[in-house]
Amino acid sequence: MPSTRTAALAAVLSSAASVVAAFTSPAVTSSATSKKSTTSIYSTVDPSVVTKKEYQDICGVDFDDRSMQDRLRKTSYLYPKHVEVIEDFEPLVNQMVDDILLETGEKAWQPQDYLPDLAADDWLQQTKDLREAAEGIPDEVFVVLVGDMVTEEALPTYQTLLNTFEGCDDPIGTTDSAWAKWSRGWTSEENRHGDLLNKYLYLTGKTDMRAIEVTIQHLITSGFNPGARKDPYRGFLYTSFQERATKVSHGNVGKVAKDYGAKDLQRICAKIAGDEGRHEKAYQSFCTEILKRDPDGLLMEFGDMMRGQIVMPAELMTDGKDAQLYENFSAVAQRLGVYTAIDYAEIIQHLVDHWKLGELTGLSPEAEKEQEYICRLPTRYKKLAERSMNKKKDDVVELNSFSWIFDRKA
Ligand SMILES: [Fe+2]
Ligand SMILES: [Fe+2]
Repeated sequence: MPSTRTAALAAVLSSAASVVAAFTSPAVTSSATSKKSTTSIYSTVDPSVVTKKEYQDICGVDFDDRSMQDRLRKTSYLYPKHVEVIEDFEPLVNQMVDDILLETGEKAWQPQDYLPDLAADDWLQQTKDLREAAEGIPDEVFVVLVGDMVTEEALPTYQTLLNTFEGCDDPIGTTDSAWAKWSRGWTSEENRHGDLLNKYLYLTGKTDMRAIEVTIQHLITSGFNPGARKDPYRGFLYTSFQERATKVSHGNVGKVAKDYGAKDLQRICAKIAGDEGRHEKAYQSFCTEILKRDPDGLLMEFGDMMRGQIVMPAELMTDGKDAQLYENFSAVAQRLGVYTAIDYAEIIQHLVDHWKLGELTGLSPEAEKEQEYICRLPTRYKKLAERSMNKKKDDVVELNSFSWIFDRKA
């Protein structure tokens, strides 16, 4: 047996060596000592010096647009089955690009539609109106608004992550696949959120914009790990949850703003929440399609993800001063009722109901276990949330100072 194994190994090694040789062009192998070939490689960028044939000889391949695209498309995946499944419903994703995402350009809403027009004759009055309305908004609402804005402004992180989900990446930056179009379209819509909130806050004059900008820079530098592990199933489970969470949070900030008479801020938050609602729909329908094709696979990933908590995208935020910044911001959001532990439980409940997870049949024994676990979660979370919120009711509210509002306490 060992000798057979040795022979097999030798065969593999020798075939690997011939594969390497086959992909190493003569120009490259001889270039180490040859002055001529070094010069050739040096000038490959200049088409007037190097012919296409020479270029191909040097590189060993024909780099026309088509073959470049093919080379860049991944052929080996960590989750080949998951990629196969999501590729199977590409037509639906194409439809989502048309039906769910807004038209771009003139027809799409833009941040400027909800802000004073500084080029208008009455720009000063428009700005004064915004600032007057903002006077009535308490600091704690500003803290939540800033936290939400910082989260939105870390969009480069989210687009980067979306591009790690196998099968939905955009390898050349202008890839024509439905998934790549979705990812770019989604990003272009999300880009308006941070933009709008940032400009609004700037105009109010109520917040320390520099401290906020420091926080944004730190957050993008730190990144965040939602535990998707490049798996599109996990990625879309995460985004299904997260888009709904942001819809809830922005929507509630809007309601609070209205209570304090800031109708302009209410409109802004409602507009953003509307976007999140559309995105939520799309990501949840991607998961519905996965469930039709691979219910076992999705349930296994969902169960595994739920054993850890769903990580919030701004978890690693810091302003360089407050080591507990995220926790302190979350505490204010919870106190204001903008985003609470009950919301967390209700989002899971919504996903369980929306995907009718309790009604799935024909599952593997392992997936059945996960089904049972996931379906019981919302009630368990809700009880825990209610218990901890009731307990907190009696606690003395501890205020923290935030650099975002010039170290005032909230
Ligand atoms: Fe957003
Ligand atoms: Fe979003």
